[in-house]
Amino acid sequence: MYARITGTGSYLPGDAVSNTELAARGIDTSDEWIVTRTGIRSRHLAPAGTTASQLGCEAARRALEMAGVEATALDLIIVATSTPDFIFPSTACLIQAQLGNKGATAFDVQAVCAGFAYALGIAEKFIRSGSHKRALVIGAEVFSRILDWQDRGTCVLFGDGAGAVVLEAAETPGILATAMHADGSYAGILNVPGQISRGQVTGDPFLRMDGQAVFKFAVRVLAEVAQEVCAAAEMDSADIDWLIPHQANLRIIDATGRKLGIAPEKVVVTVDRHGNTSAASVPLALDEAVRDGRIQRGQKVLLEGIGGGFAWGAALLEF
Ligand code: UT7
Repeated sequence: MYARITGTGSYLPGDAVSNTELAARGIDTSDEWIVTRTGIRSRHLAPAGTTASQLGCEAARRALEMAGVEATALDLIIVATSTPDFIFPSTACLIQAQLGNKGATAFDVQAVCAGFAYALGIAEKFIRSGSHKRALVIGAEVFSRILDWQDRGTCVLFGDGAGAVVLEAAETPGILATAMHADGSYAGILNVPGQISRGQVTGDPFLRMDGQAVFKFAVRVLAEVAQEVCAAAEMDSADIDWLIPHQANLRIIDATGRKLGIAPEKVVVTVDRHGNTSAASVPLALDEAVRDGRIQRGQKVLLEGIGGGFAWGAALLEF
């Protein structure tokens, strides 16, 4: 029994906001600085009141339509998000209700920018165990809600959006190998160290990051985890048709491709137009490359994510 992606979907809220527009809003930055350091040219920022569940629901509807699956037929809904609508109920339950599904197993996964790789790996294990047959796996984020717009070192990097896949039981591959790792001793280099307690926000409710420490860590483990899933599937990185790394920074993406010996034209890049959408970045990029015809059935695709925790993971699949 394999788990196979039968549909993809994505959704970006509002209009694209360029680097120049951010600078015009009073952030002490420039298009030249942001493009040189990150490759980001624009990002989408959700209008006030728009939530992760709304973005996730739009992406899910598109993935369900491509798969030809009714929402009522789903038996598993997993949402990767670090910007849930509420502390509880889970964003997965909110999306389940919006889609009109009743009874499916539904829960959120919190692994920040590695969230989609984790959620996909978890869903695959449910399906391969035989307990579930039809899963919806979503990455949905409104990171603009947790950015300190006075901190130019972080606020220019992130965007909002959602991506989704339908994953179904199949006799042919399918997901070939997955890996999920974490090292909590690095919690201090990327976090939102705020708490809600006794009706008050205590601590700091905004994203904080040691950019250079994150950069070095990301380049190392993204190459390692890609090699790990290739070895588990008894494949070489030269056999990969498409690499979809977490879309945080073009320099990290380029360095990862180089370390793996994967040519730049085989690497899907959306960071230039989406910024870093955390758990949504990989399914957004996957959906774009499926819908524009780059990714074809039967091709080998390697997805990977990394983020706060630190947490990282990958999935190697035959599309
Ligand atoms: O999902 C994982 C999420 N995070 C990442 O993947 C981020 C990984 N890290 C990075 O992408 C890079 O470290 C950054 C893009 C965040 C920063 O690049 P950097 O080359 O490490 O720059 P830096 O933080 O060392 O800052 C260099 C200079 C500083 O000025 P001084 O002290 O040299 O005068 C900053 O104040 O750039 C300044 N700076 C900016 N200038 C214009 C920082 N942010 C900005 C900005 N615009 N937005």
